Amino acid sequence: MTIPSQVKLVEVGPRDGLQNEKVQVPTSTKVELINKLADAGLTVIEAGSFVSPKWVPQMSDTREVYLQAAQRPGVSYPVLVPNLKGLEAALEAGVKEVAGFAAASETFSVKNTNCNIKESLDRQKIVCDQAIKSGLRVRGYISVVLGCPYEGEINPIVVSDVARQLYEMGCYEISLGDTVGVGTPQKTKELFDYVARSVPVDKLGGHFHDTYGQATANIYAALQLGVSIFDSSVAGLGGCPYSPGATGNVSTEDVLYMLDGIGIETGVDMEKLLVAAEYICEHLKRPTFSRAGRALISKQERTS
Ligand code: HMG
Ligand code: MG
Repeated sequence: MTIPSQVKLVEVGPRDGLQNEKVQVPTSTKVELINKLADAGLTVIEAGSFVSPKWVPQMSDTREVYLQAAQRPGVSYPVLVPNLKGLEAALEAGVKEVAGFAAASETFSVKNTNCNIKESLDRQKIVCDQAIKSGLRVRGYISVVLGCPYEGEINPIVVSDVARQLYEMGCYEISLGDTVGVGTPQKTKELFDYVARSVPVDKLGGHFHDTYGQATANIYAALQLGVSIFDSSVAGLGGCPYSPGATGNVSTEDVLYMLDGIGIETGVDMEKLLVAAEYICEHLKRPTFSRAGRALISKQERTS
């Protein structure tokens, strides 16, 4: 398998990033961030989630965010939905794409969605059927694929089985999430190799967190298997409210720096991405978590 010449970056900062912030980020700031990310050339930008506001209050303005973000042609703005109630809200807002989520560990599934893996897949099936009937595209996520904060090691057979079920219910793409960021390149390779026996490799995405500094190495390992879809978060925003200790998603800047270095086409412009990162970091009043972002900004400052 040769390394793909093109990669699709799925920007999850406005959802996976901001869902984890202690403070409520104003709707207008989220909208501006999303628009700046689109300016940078990102073509998939997760706008938020229609989940219970009691569980994740940070996403309670997703409807307004979605409606106010400039709907640029060629850009999709998926939202997460855990159940039919979420799907109905998404349909009412006019979204074109939703993402469902399941987990590879029973404990994480209960902590994140208050039901076990089977129950969450049964729910997702209902959501998928209805969403597809309504003309929506559905993406599928699986959390804790390389380790769980509650159960530790995860058996790839479980990940593969959940991925196959999501694929069979009509998810056009399955994102495998190392929610805790414990994965290493070898484990990543073994997992993707295994899951690719049940779901075509071009339908698999990688969603890495950088807790142990392994995220770009893991992406490189997955690239070598032909994986060409990666989730990332501007300025490395994020974590997961139900994954204690996990740091942010791998930053879009770090991933882009690596992909640019290999010569892989993404359509994303680093300068404009840095503008989006600077914008949200200024709002959150803290420096970026991105190593490449920090280095590039300080280089700009030295040369200006
Ligand atoms: P539950 O408490 O079992 O739900 O939660 P319920 O059906 O019993 O309803 C309880 C209340 O929530 C009711 O309100 C419902 O109306 C309301 P009340 O009558 O008490 O006033 N409710 C809703 N409100 C708005 N939108 C909805 C909705 N559903 C119910 N869709 C539930 C079950 C799934 C709803 C809950 O557990 C939940 O919302 N979980 C979401 C948690 C979440 O968002 N986690 C983060 C996203 S996943 C993630 O970050 C990982 C990922 O990024 C991958 C990675 O990083 O590796 C994908
Ligand atoms: Mg994540």
